[in-house]
Amino acid sequence: MSVVVSLSQVAEYEQSLQQWPELVASGLLAEPVIESLSLPLFAQQDVRVDMLRADLLHPLISGNKWFKLKYNLLQAREQGCRTLLSFGGAWSNHLHAVAFSAQQVGMRSVGIVRGDELNANSNPMLQEAQQWGMQLEFVSRQCYREWTRDGGPAADALTWVIPEGGDNPLGVLGCMSLVPRAVYADYDQVWLALGTGCTLAGVRLSLPPDVKVCGVSVLAGDWPRQQMQQRLQQWNWHEPANWDVLTQYHAGGYGRVPASLLSFVAEFGDNTGVPLDPVYTGKAMQALCDQVQRGIVSAGTRVLFIHTGGLQGARGFSSSTG
Ligand SMILES: Cc1ncc(COP(=O)(O)O)c(C=O)c1O
Repeated sequence: MSVVVSLSQVAEYEQSLQQWPELVASGLLAEPVIESLSLPLFAQQDVRVDMLRADLLHPLISGNKWFKLKYNLLQAREQGCRTLLSFGGAWSNHLHAVAFSAQQVGMRSVGIVRGDELNANSNPMLQEAQQWGMQLEFVSRQCYREWTRDGGPAADALTWVIPEGGDNPLGVLGCMSLVPRAVYADYDQVWLALGTGCTLAGVRLSLPPDVKVCGVSVLAGDWPRQQMQQRLQQWNWHEPANWDVLTQYHAGGYGRVPASLLSFVAEFGDNTGVPLDPVYTGKAMQALCDQVQRGIVSAGTRVLFIHTGGLQGARGFSSSTG
């Protein structure tokens, strides 16, 4: 399907969501609050940092996951689909969110999980997904690679397939609604963690060009920056100066969590009362603090940091850091 990337399309979808009683009742349509962060570092460097608390949106779906999913749900319903099918690893925040949101609107859900050594009792994320009615299929890593590359197992016309991480054009469009329009003029920069890049693309496309958007890649390598360039060009965004992908703060790669990062997350929590997860938001906040410390984010800058959630999946870090 072709998706029009525009703020008027976002407004139209938002109106349609408001007419879906189950969603209105679920509380998922509330706007995330913005809080100011007071850390001695920010005060010393005269940088104002506020946080968009998308993690507080809902106790069970946290952060950007809902934003990527909501228009997928709308389109699935519009096309008469009864089932959502998606993919993820054992601790996937995304699959967990698909299971919960499908249950909220009375749809079925199927989760293709990477790893045929796993089962529904392997961890609380999978247990909860199953409790919310998700049918879990555990597949080998090779089969998973092939299915995610080829768009999944052959699904019938009544199944709405959502790619890994919720990264499709409707996901990008949904992320265009993350930052409330009323606050666009209050910030010079917006910071967030980057995995697939779907969230950053949506945020970049929604904001005026003079607001810089910085994504902190949690994956090793320089390719996320090139991929973002291609992605934004595809959506006709041609303002290269006003977005960036920082590729030096992945701390060893996806899911790698050195002890220094765990202490940063714990200290940040103690000082601000805000919990971060070590896989995404912890790395992004560590990057922001480093850039503020070095004066690269200069005095007088007004920053909005998006807390993209991830706290459910972070439970994995009490048992594993892999
Ligand atoms: C908590 C959290 N933050 C950030 C991201 C990165 O989002 P994206 O994959 O859209 O770049 C994810 C992945 O969905 C996530 O779970």
